[in-house]
Amino acid sequence: MSAIVIDGKKVAAEVKAELRPRIEQLKNKGIEPNLTVILVGEDPASRVYVSMKKKACEELGIQSDTLNLPGETSESELLTLVEKLNRDSGVHGILVQLPLPSQIREAKVIETISPEKDVDGFHPVNVGKLVAGTPAFVPCTPAGVLELLLRYDVKPEGKHVVIVGRSNIVGKPLANLLVQKSPTGNATVTVCHTRTRDLPEYTRQADILIAAAGRPQMITGDMVREGVVVIDVGVNRVDDPTAKRGYRLVGDVDFDSVSEKAAAITPVPGGVGPMTIAMLMKNTVQAASNLLRNKGKDA
Ligand code: GUN
Repeated sequence: MSAIVIDGKKVAAEVKAELRPRIEQLKNKGIEPNLTVILVGEDPASRVYVSMKKKACEELGIQSDTLNLPGETSESELLTLVEKLNRDSGVHGILVQLPLPSQIREAKVIETISPEKDVDGFHPVNVGKLVAGTPAFVPCTPAGVLELLLRYDVKPEGKHVVIVGRSNIVGKPLANLLVQKSPTGNATVTVCHTRTRDLPEYTRQADILIAAAGRPQMITGDMVREGVVVIDVGVNRVDDPTAKRGYRLVGDVDFDSVSEKAAAITPVPGGVGPMTIAMLMKNTVQAASNLLRNKGKDA
């Protein structure tokens, strides 16, 4: 079987194009959607992600501010900044890029972001709403995965979805979304992780396999069955002396061997990555529109 290669770049461009009229409408009503991104320290991968987010904002006419703080920033300094942004009515979305340096507790920072501005969907209030089936902001990568499935007409209903990875950012929210009684859910979900015994036993049962473990090319052709749909969330840098930068990006899936058996598969790069950014834009536009709606209620 020769797999359909799911084109995340194309779908992300569609999602962004659909946002343009909404952004225009907001501007006509005097609202300039604004996303403020905080980057603490110099992590090279985080810098790349943050600059991609900024570029996407510029492309769509969303105002974006990137605040670069030194790696030695204290937790209280960061919390003070977040509180200031919470109060700033011109800021609609606040995103603190993770991971944070070890002197700062991530959970504390996430809890301080106003849930109405939490475009990452990481605040406990938003996590709770997602689990309860009344989502506010859906985390961007899980939202991007669901959007890819939707636009490629892969329906999770009744399927066995196997997720490899249990992170708060991807695995756990995805599992919750996919079991919801909803058109993008209704799946039977298995979540595997580092302590799972006999991982291939599970991955071979998957109708839809989602790899989000952060381990380069760990899913190989012998671990999947014919006709599986494979979504690769992994972005791993591996040394490559022949590459200009000295490394190349690979997913958690061994694309060559798995694509021989899969019905459809996302590439890395060009699969889930662009979708994460598109969904962040969508959440930011949503945050700005919610403000307008709430203003209307007050009036
Ligand atoms: N680091 C890796 N992925 C993400 C994400 O989706 N949001 C934030 N804030 N940090 C990340």
